[in-house]
Amino acid sequence: MEGYWSLILYGIGGILATSVGLLVAFQEKLIYVPVVPGLTKSYPITPARLRLLYEDVWLRSSDGVRLHAWFIKLAPDCRGPTIVFFQENAGNIAHRLEMVRIMLQRLQCNVFMLSYRGYGASDGFPSQQGIINDSQAALDHLIQRTDIDKSRLVVFGRSLGGAVGTVLCKNNPDKIGALILENTFTSILDMAGVLLPFLRYFIGGSNSKGPKVLNRFVRSPWSTIDVVGQVKQPILLLSGLRDEMNFLMACIWTRGSLEAIAIGERYNSFWKKMYQRKMNDEIPARAIAIVSVFIHVDQAGNKFSPRSEDANI
Ligand SMILES: *[C@@H]1O[C@H](CO)[C@@H](O)[C@H](O)[C@H]1NC(C)=O
Repeated sequence: MEGYWSLILYGIGGILATSVGLLVAFQEKLIYVPVVPGLTKSYPITPARLRLLYEDVWLRSSDGVRLHAWFIKLAPDCRGPTIVFFQENAGNIAHRLEMVRIMLQRLQCNVFMLSYRGYGASDGFPSQQGIINDSQAALDHLIQRTDIDKSRLVVFGRSLGGAVGTVLCKNNPDKIGALILENTFTSILDMAGVLLPFLRYFIGGSNSKGPKVLNRFVRSPWSTIDVVGQVKQPILLLSGLRDEMNFLMACIWTRGSLEAIAIGERYNSFWKKMYQRKMNDEIPARAIAIVSVFIHVDQAGNKFSPRSEDANI
């Protein structure tokens, strides 16, 4: 009888160890999903399909990986701010074109869309440091262009893209004017516990309790919560109330720089009251209006100055 019970215990222990082992081994496959099941890695459409004016841009990341991007222009002479768009973890930039078209029209801006390594037409395999370097290559490209207003560069990151954008803003305080984060997370360490609650005791970000013995095995922690306080630019947070990342956004809020909190406070009521539904690929008109105010630039001084007092919220 005793032998029977220990067999079961060993069995359960073995299954747990194997599941955790598989999670550790295949974590990149869970975090980075450039090919959504049923879809191809390649772009289903190009911006031309939506009658957008664009340029294919080929870049080299610092370790030589070849990257693809689309520079989508508002007009041939590229007036207005330029938004650097960082996508979430699944699918590719072509799947975000519909939303980008709305941004272009409503915000009167250009949009630069980067395919991270391993995504879309870019070479390589995704990794945290690799993608951080890729985003730097994208910014360096924009900085050396002569056809855009470089004093009006705004980073827009959604979910994983928010983590990418936060690091890029921290590393480039003088080159980027502002940061917009939409439904992003504090860190992958916290996300693991949100998606798989049994992991909560083994993995967690700087806010969480428990032994967190598995943290060291996470190769892409993307700990925005530990970086956002060093971001000097104004930050706008957009989140859906029903999104599972909502409470993680609230943590980011409390860690943001003073300026971010000052501006964030203005948007807090909006965030709490106006968002009664999950944000998806369509940005509600209200968010568009606020983003529009946020990226407004003082023409006289040509200096970036988000005018939160005009947001009327
Ligand atoms: C990223 O860039 C840094 C600094 O240039 C370099 O040391 C590192 O090897 C690069 N890593 C990857 C994965 O590209």
